[in-house]
Amino acid sequence: MAVKDLTTRFACSQCGRIESKWLGRCPDCGSWNSFVEEVVKKSEKSSNSALVSNTNKMQPVKLSKVTVENNIRISTGISELDRVLGGGAMRGATILLGGEPGIGKSTLMLQMLALSTAARTLYVSGEESPSQIRLRADRLNIQSESVTLYCDTRLEELLKTMHKMKPDLMVIDSLQTLSSSDIPSIAGSIQQIRVCSMELADAARQLGTALFVVGHVTKDGQIAGPKVIEHIVDTVLYFDQAETGVRLVRAAKNRYGTVDEIGIFLMEERGLVPVIDPAGFFLGKRKMGSLPPGIAYTAIVEGSRTFLVEIQALTVDVKSGMPRVYSERIETARVLRVAAVLERHAGIRVTDRDVYVNVAGGIRLSEVSIELALALALYSAVSSKALPLKLVSFGELSLAGEIRPVVFPDKRAKGAYDMGFRTLLAPASSFELDLPLKIHRCTSIAEAIRLVSDTN
Ligand code: TYD
Ligand code: MG
Repeated sequence: MAVKDLTTRFACSQCGRIESKWLGRCPDCGSWNSFVEEVVKKSEKSSNSALVSNTNKMQPVKLSKVTVENNIRISTGISELDRVLGGGAMRGATILLGGEPGIGKSTLMLQMLALSTAARTLYVSGEESPSQIRLRADRLNIQSESVTLYCDTRLEELLKTMHKMKPDLMVIDSLQTLSSSDIPSIAGSIQQIRVCSMELADAARQLGTALFVVGHVTKDGQIAGPKVIEHIVDTVLYFDQAETGVRLVRAAKNRYGTVDEIGIFLMEERGLVPVIDPAGFFLGKRKMGSLPPGIAYTAIVEGSRTFLVEIQALTVDVKSGMPRVYSERIETARVLRVAAVLERHAGIRVTDRDVYVNVAGGIRLSEVSIELALALALYSAVSSKALPLKLVSFGELSLAGEIRPVVFPDKRAKGAYDMGFRTLLAPASSFELDLPLKIHRCTSIAEAIRLVSDTN
C-alpha cells in the first residue's frame, strides 16, 4: 500500500469516537487521555464505507415472504448461560463476552463448546497454543472429540475457514488478537477490533453461526475495550465480580432476550460450576439462635429468580473530622439518603457517625426495594439491638418517610418463606399469599421501627 493512500485520524480507546485532531478529553464518553492515533486507508476514512458496500448484498423483500427457521436457538449446554441469553444462543447472532483477564472466559467458552447441542463447533484461539488448550480441556474433563480447534489471528484466513466449515457454534478468543491485513494498525487497536468484528458478525449472520467473541476489559487505554463494538454485536455479556469466588454473567444488551437475568458460577478445580439453586446463596450462614445487631435481610428479584440477601451495617464514632459512609455494594448516595430519612422521620441519628455497609456474598444491590431493609440494618447497628431472627423486609423509602410499594411483592414473599423466613415487613400494597408467613404492612419508616423495637 502506497504511503499516499494512507492518512491518520484519532480514535477514543474507550468508546471509539473518531476525531481528525487529538483531544485531551472525549466529548462522547468523557474519558481523559483516551485518544490514540490510527493510520487508515483514505477510502475508509469515513464510516468504513468500503466495508458497508461490500457486506450489503441482500435484496429487499416483503416482510411476509421472510421465513423463520426452526431450531433457531442453540443450547449452550450450560443452563446459567442459556438463561442469560434468553433461552440459548441465537443462530446468526454475535455475542460479545467481556471480562477482566483471569475471570474465566476461556474456561466458560471451552465448556460451552463441549456441552452444547451444536453439531459443528469451532474454537479459534489467538492467545493459547493447541497444546495449552488441550491441557485445559483435560483439566475440565471434557470430551475433546466434540471441539474443533483453529489457532490463527489473521481475519482473512479465519473468514475462509468459517465459510468452509460453516460452524453452528463458534468462539473467538480473543477479539484483541485478530487483525486484518487491509488495516495498517496493530492487532488490538480500535480500528482492527471494529473492522474484524463487523466482518465476523456479517459472516456469522450469513452462515447462521452463533458466534461468541471474547473481549478483555482492561483499564489500559492501548487495548481497545469491548465497549467499542457494543453497537455492532447483538448481545453483550459481562463476566465479573470475582469476589468471594462467585462469578456472575450478566447481559448489558440483548437483542433476543431480557437483560435482567444473571448466571451464577463458582470456579472450581474442574472449571466453572453453575450455582443451580441460588435463592439462599447470598445469605450468611448462621447457626446461632439470634442475630448480631446490624444485620437485616431482604429479597431481591433478578430476572426470573428471587434471591435472599443479607445487608450488614456497622456504625462507629467518627475517627477523623467529618463522618463518612463506607459502602461498596450499595451506592453511598443511597445509604446517605436512607440514613437521612431514618434520622428525620424515625428519630434515629446515624449521620453523625462513621457508617460501614456491606452485603454478604459480594453481590451489588441497586434495586430500590432494599431501602427498608437497609434502614432496619442501620437502626439495628446504631441501637445495638438485633432484629428478630426470621424477619425479612422490602420496600422503597420516600423522602417523606413513607414505605412505597415495589414490584413483585408476592415473588419476594414466597422466596423468603421458602428460605425459612417467617415474618415480613412489607409496604401496604395489595398482594395476597396463602402461606403461614406473618405479614406486617407498614406505611411509614416510623411505624416499621416501632414494630421491630416492640418485638424485641
Ligand atoms: P481463564 O478461563 O483462562 O480466564 P480468562 O480467559 O478470562 O482470562 O481462567 C482463569 C482462572 O481460572 C485461572 O487463574 C485458572 C482458574 N481455573 C480454575 O480454577 N479451574 C479450572 O478448571 C480452570 C480451567 C481454570
Ligand atoms: Mg482467556
